Amino acid sequence: MKKRILTGDRPTGKLHLGHYVGSLKNRIKLQDEYEQFIMLADVQALTDNFENPEKVRQNIFNVALDYLSVGIDPKKSTIFIQSQIPGIAELTVFYMNLVTVARLERNPTVKTEIKQKGMEDSLPLGFLAYPVSQAADITIVKSNLVPVGEDQLPMIEQTREIVRKFNFLYGDVFPEPEAVIGDVPRLVGIDGSYKMSKSLGNAILLSDSASEVEKKVMSMYTDPNRIKANTPGSIEGNPLFIYLDAFAPEAEREKIGKYKDLYRLGQVGDIEVKKYLSRILNEFLDPIRNRRLKYENNPKLVEEILKDGTKRVGDIAQKTMGEVKKAMKIDYFT
Ligand code: TRP
Repeated sequence: MKKRILTGDRPTGKLHLGHYVGSLKNRIKLQDEYEQFIMLADVQALTDNFENPEKVRQNIFNVALDYLSVGIDPKKSTIFIQSQIPGIAELTVFYMNLVTVARLERNPTVKTEIKQKGMEDSLPLGFLAYPVSQAADITIVKSNLVPVGEDQLPMIEQTREIVRKFNFLYGDVFPEPEAVIGDVPRLVGIDGSYKMSKSLGNAILLSDSASEVEKKVMSMYTDPNRIKANTPGSIEGNPLFIYLDAFAPEAEREKIGKYKDLYRLGQVGDIEVKKYLSRILNEFLDPIRNRRLKYENNPKLVEEILKDGTKRVGDIAQKTMGEVKKAMKIDYFT
């Protein structure tokens, strides 16, 4: 039997280049070797967007299109919608007994998000508890592997703790999942800041047009100390070269090496490198755009894919919940 993967994204916005190198690339690679489940985490998205259900609903379609257009193959991977799997909510309730509030408050990703969203004094219980629900997502299909971006590592760690506790108390039901992160676990934004993020407005989207990409690249932050084209520049931490390294094909390596040398010597202008990067990014995005077009023009097909995938996961979830209830001695009428 193939080992399983479960991973997913909150449908709160279109996916960007950071998602690609952080986890989508791994998902595309691993879908041949693993039985892969990719979840549209609408329930989790609602934990901090419960006032905007329309936004979450719209992004279900957007993110599904992003998946399909980067090359997630619906014949190999199962894409499904979290809210339609009642077993996940049920399992979350059981897991809540196994986690302390203090442990959740220590989760570094949750901590950062609470601060970023200014929720210190009005923290919804659902938001604080989303790592518990995420443990249910991962384990409902008995996942072995979880391809995610770096910010998700604390969630996988918490899931492992919950699994160990569950198995110890009630008997071995779940495997302990492991995280896999991409070659670029966290991509800088076009403004040079820590992380590419749609909400920070520093992202290049997988669905951006060629001219949008060009415009964004031309506005990119580079080396702030470089006042003129002949000022020696720095490569380290410079998003221009980080993106070139991440998205250029093998055949361009030599040319990129030369550009780096020239840049360090102050012998090439930012504009020239930016034009080159625009071309590289657009060549990377072109096949993605073509696939997107095919699915965008066939929304019925996308709906079918989500419906089939959700049905398949529903069956698996039901089976897992049978085992869970038996282990927990709440299987009264079977
Ligand atoms: N927390 C993830 C994010 O913000 C989304 C997610 C929900 C997820 N459930 C998951 C990722 C289970 C991996 C596994 O992008």
